[in-house]
Amino acid sequence: MYGLVNKAVEDLVCAHYGEPTWAQIQARAGVQTPGFVSMESYPDEVTYKLVAAASEVLGAPAAAVLEAVGEHWILFTARHGYGELLPMFGATLREFVANLDNMHARVGLTFARMRPPSFVVREAGPQALELEYHSSREGLAPMVVGLLKGLARTFAEDIAVEHVHGRERGGFDLFRLELQPAA
Ligand code: HEM
Repeated sequence: MYGLVNKAVEDLVCAHYGEPTWAQIQARAGVQTPGFVSMESYPDEVTYKLVAAASEVLGAPAAAVLEAVGEHWILFTARHGYGELLPMFGATLREFVANLDNMHARVGLTFARMRPPSFVVREAGPQALELEYHSSREGLAPMVVGLLKGLARTFAEDIAVEHVHGRERGGFDLFRLELQPAA
């Protein structure tokens, strides 16, 4: 994945645990890259190894690390020049979620070699949506949960996310979202 993703993992760890812990995670992952370049594409393996090593060093499940990375991604990208994407693709969480593919297509103009995920959204009640998450990559569903929570925070809304099923059924992950304006 693009270096920007690995930089988000690094930024999250350094902000909460400090640079020596990040150095420990890099060493355990066997990833010696001195600094990731946002616009350079790295093998997916680098990201997976960093998440696995962070899980070991921090003593947290890999799913929790991925969820935290997803939540952090929204803040991190906003600080790195992508903040205007949010209002551009939606005034509410519901609108933005419906535009995720358009948003990634726009991002793909800059990140030409990216393999973006794809989402299908369906109404599932007055305050509920069903979200299909399609990806060429395995194991990133917990990151989607974090991304959705981060988005909700940015839009000052409340969200409950249920992972209905994994990609062993139909080849995609299905989420059910309950949306509410923040109290
Ligand atoms: C807000 C600004 C956002 C930007 C700039 C952005 C950009 C990107 C970039 C550059 C990648 C790496 C793809 C690659 O290297 O091949 C990526 C991956 C991904 N993005 Fe976004 N994204 C944003 C928000 C979101 C949101 C809100 C969601 C979902 C709710 C999302 C879901 C994902 C997922 C799941 C991946 C992992 C790739 C995969 O599943 O195969 N992104 N995004």
